[in-house]
Amino acid sequence: MDLGIRGKTALVLGASQGLGKAIAEKLAEEGANLFLVARSEDKLAGLSANLSSTFGVTVTPVALDLSGAAAVEVFCDRVRNEIKPDILLNNAGGPPPSPSLGVTAEVWHRSAQTLLFSLFRITEATVEVMKARKWGRILAIGSSGVVQPIPNLAVSNTIRGAMAGFCKTLSNEVAGDGITVNMILPGKIDTDRVGQLDTARAQREGKTLEQVRTEIAASLPAKRYGRPEEFASVAVFMLSEPAGYVTGQMTRVDGGMIKSI
Ligand SMILES: NC(=O)c1ccc[n+]([C@@H]2O[C@H](COP(=O)([O-])OP(=O)(O)OC[C@H]3O[C@@H](n4cnc5c(N)ncnc54)[C@H](OP(=O)(O)O)[C@@H]3O)[C@@H](O)[C@H]2O)c1
Repeated sequence: MDLGIRGKTALVLGASQGLGKAIAEKLAEEGANLFLVARSEDKLAGLSANLSSTFGVTVTPVALDLSGAAAVEVFCDRVRNEIKPDILLNNAGGPPPSPSLGVTAEVWHRSAQTLLFSLFRITEATVEVMKARKWGRILAIGSSGVVQPIPNLAVSNTIRGAMAGFCKTLSNEVAGDGITVNMILPGKIDTDRVGQLDTARAQREGKTLEQVRTEIAASLPAKRYGRPEEFASVAVFMLSEPAGYVTGQMTRVDGGMIKSI
């Protein structure tokens, strides 16, 4: 299937590793030119060089900390005037694990700034450009926790719910401009983030990492963790031309992990 995004410009946030990186790779494979955002300049430089030489697309690394409101405002000017994305992937690192009570004000504020307020501002700058073109694809990476809150991930569960409300509301406001806005919900996709959470759980429960990972895999209907490239294939379809009539949706890529319909 031709995904119809060759030559389009994609802005990928949280692109240096994990799910964002896997999506950047698939977008490059489909011929999209990329702007890749994360904090790690070195990782982004290596990935950009690799993707442009492998797929012949233009890839521009952007070192930016999404927890910094002032730097994000400066970046938004760049989005409007230089980057002008056709495609936006909203993504950043997940908050630290914890129960609902005892979270410091600093963690609440930093997590909300990184995963909500910065992404709202970048989305707004992007939508202005997309409206003028009457075409756009916006996708936010959420979590299975939006539908079925995950124990000991209170900050993530809370923030993902707010992003779901933003995406659904925006989707109705811009559907008439040819812009789709969706969320994609990973279950257990095998990335560094999931490895860190598994390690923390192993420490809490006095088990080895291998024990914890075996137990988790056995608890999933698919009996295994997902692969980043499996997740990215679904994400890139949601960002493609043929997905133009799919908006305001939350798509699960979880091997059946979420129990509800
Ligand atoms: N993997 C899963 O199965 C799963 C399940 C549920 C939810 N999620 C959520 O999905 C998102 C992506 O997951 P992942 O597994 O790919 O996580 P990951 O491996 O930790 O990758 C996060 C990406 O975001 C970037 N990032 C983190 N903080 C940033 C900041 N302040 N400013 C700019 N970039 C930042 C990281 O790069 P730098 O460190 O270079 O900045 C990295 O590229 C996370 O929010 C995670 O919580 C994932």
